[in-house]
Amino acid sequence: MASLNNARVVVIGGASGVGFAVAGAALEAGAQVIVGSSQAPRVEAAVEKLGRGATGRTVDVKDEASVAAFFEAAGAFDHLVFTAGDWGHMFGATRDLDVEASKDRMEVRFWGAARAAKHAVRQIAVDGSITLTGGMLAHRPIPGAPLVTASAHTTEGLAMGLARDLAPIRVNAVCLGLILSEQVQGWGDAMVKSFTAGLPLPRGGSVEEAAEAYLYLMRATYVIGQIVRVDGGGSLV
Ligand SMILES: NC(=O)c1ccc[n+]([C@@H]2O[C@H](COP(=O)([O-])OP(=O)(O)OC[C@H]3O[C@@H](n4cnc5c(N)ncnc54)[C@H](OP(=O)(O)O)[C@@H]3O)[C@@H](O)[C@H]2O)c1
Repeated sequence: MASLNNARVVVIGGASGVGFAVAGAALEAGAQVIVGSSQAPRVEAAVEKLGRGATGRTVDVKDEASVAAFFEAAGAFDHLVFTAGDWGHMFGATRDLDVEASKDRMEVRFWGAARAAKHAVRQIAVDGSITLTGGMLAHRPIPGAPLVTASAHTTEGLAMGLARDLAPIRVNAVCLGLILSEQVQGWGDAMVKSFTAGLPLPRGGSVEEAAEAYLYLMRATYVIGQIVRVDGGGSLV
């Protein structure tokens, strides 16, 4: 395993939730961390809360010029973690799908990740890594969410395709089950239980538990093109 001591780690989506926990864990491991997300006050608050020399900069991954400027300002670095995502209305039964509106929902998680990879490769170390973020609805579809399932697969497909294209830069993805970020905690206990009650580990995961997988993928120098599931055993049931 490579050490993260003094490695430069960029976390897009690092202002909150899983990305914030990854940033904190990377700092703990001795890395220099740059967080990015679209809202300046949230970036500033995250940087202040993280401390330990963390820096931050706004980036809107929907906008390629913004992504290009972000990576130019970041300079050379070792690892990119991409957890940016928005929470919208991709849920919906097939007969009621709002196809046009749903296209927008790919802008952050899928096209945003593609834009980030495109501009990251200009600055990333050849022995560095990129880790994307997908979700377990790719593998455990539920009624009323066909597009969520499809979009989650696009992330995993992108990680695998980038891994072949960018090797020896290692590209992987973490596939998250229900993780208790601030966002998810806002759903309330009943909703969380409805998703997690039947799991082998019948609870939501913590953001710190999720962050472990990203740390592993940054350090694991012989792992490329893989999808690591952090799902409380959701794929077993
Ligand atoms: N938590 C779960 O249970 C779960 C399960 C499966 C998959 N996921 C996925 O995992 C990722 C992280 O989840 P989370 O719960 O940690 O979510 P979160 O707390 O909402 O984090 C998402 C981050 O993305 C940033 N962001 C949103 N739009 C952006 C844009 N246009 N450009 C740059 N940054 C942007 C947000 O900051 P700003 O508002 O400042 O931009 C925020 O910091 C998301 O993609 C989510 O879909 C989560």
